Amino acid sequence: MPDPVAVNSMFARIARRYDVANRLLSGGVDTCWRRRLVAAVRRQSPHDILDLATGSGDVAFALSRSLPRTAKITGMDFCQPMLDEAIVKQRTGGRSLNVVFLQGDGMALPLADATFDAVTVSFGLRNMADRLQALREMHRVLRPGGRLYVLEFSQPQSWFRPLYYFYTKRILPVFAGLVTGDRAAYDYLNASIERYPDYEAMSAEIRQAGFASVSVNRMTFGIVALHAAVKAS
Ligand SMILES: C[S@@+](CC[C@H](N)C(=O)[O-])C[C@H]1O[C@@H](n2cnc3c(N)ncnc32)[C@H](O)[C@@H]1O
Repeated sequence: MPDPVAVNSMFARIARRYDVANRLLSGGVDTCWRRRLVAAVRRQSPHDILDLATGSGDVAFALSRSLPRTAKITGMDFCQPMLDEAIVKQRTGGRSLNVVFLQGDGMALPLADATFDAVTVSFGLRNMADRLQALREMHRVLRPGGRLYVLEFSQPQSWFRPLYYFYTKRILPVFAGLVTGDRAAYDYLNASIERYPDYEAMSAEIRQAGFASVSVNRMTFGIVALHAAVKAS
């Protein structure tokens, strides 16, 4: 289980270089993964959206660009330095006036029941100490019929695993250390990816949290999975 205090301080340390590291370490593919998430949300046409573990706000901003201006997007994260990055981007870009950023813990959301039509969480669930509790909180704040979208690393197809784990264990931490100056943070990233459940186990956890109609879209040889689910009425 990740230690929330250690996770928070790790993201605080890398916040300034988080976006650059993402682009370099994924070869830019991370933007395609987030685009697929946003396209799925857009098909639902939600009005009130929570982007949990929003970090530097990439998904929140992409949702704002893609959805009608009447949509209201709340970006929430427990790490203030990550939120500060999002707020600076929002101010300097002069855009996304329908996005608000708030501090809050995914395992005890400071939000009322049945407030949102959609909850997105992109590369955040893996970092939460109690995933099931976090999923139950997402279920609580959704309206009946509302949808959950979880974009997260997953276990790749078996033929691709040796190459993938060579990259995540041997190359990524060294390269990340050079880019961010914090190799330990990316050793954690690597370990957290390896420990994370495969897409079937993840579907089962989402169901256990109370969701129905769980579907999954595996991407890039299964490195990443987009789970979607519904809060039954
Ligand atoms: C890898 S970043 C993902 C950021 C963003 N969603 C993205 O796609 O780039 C993980 C984020 O999860 C946040 N996080 C981790 N545990 C959390 C928790 N318990 N509550 C809220 N945010 C959390 C971290 O602060 C960090 O900003």
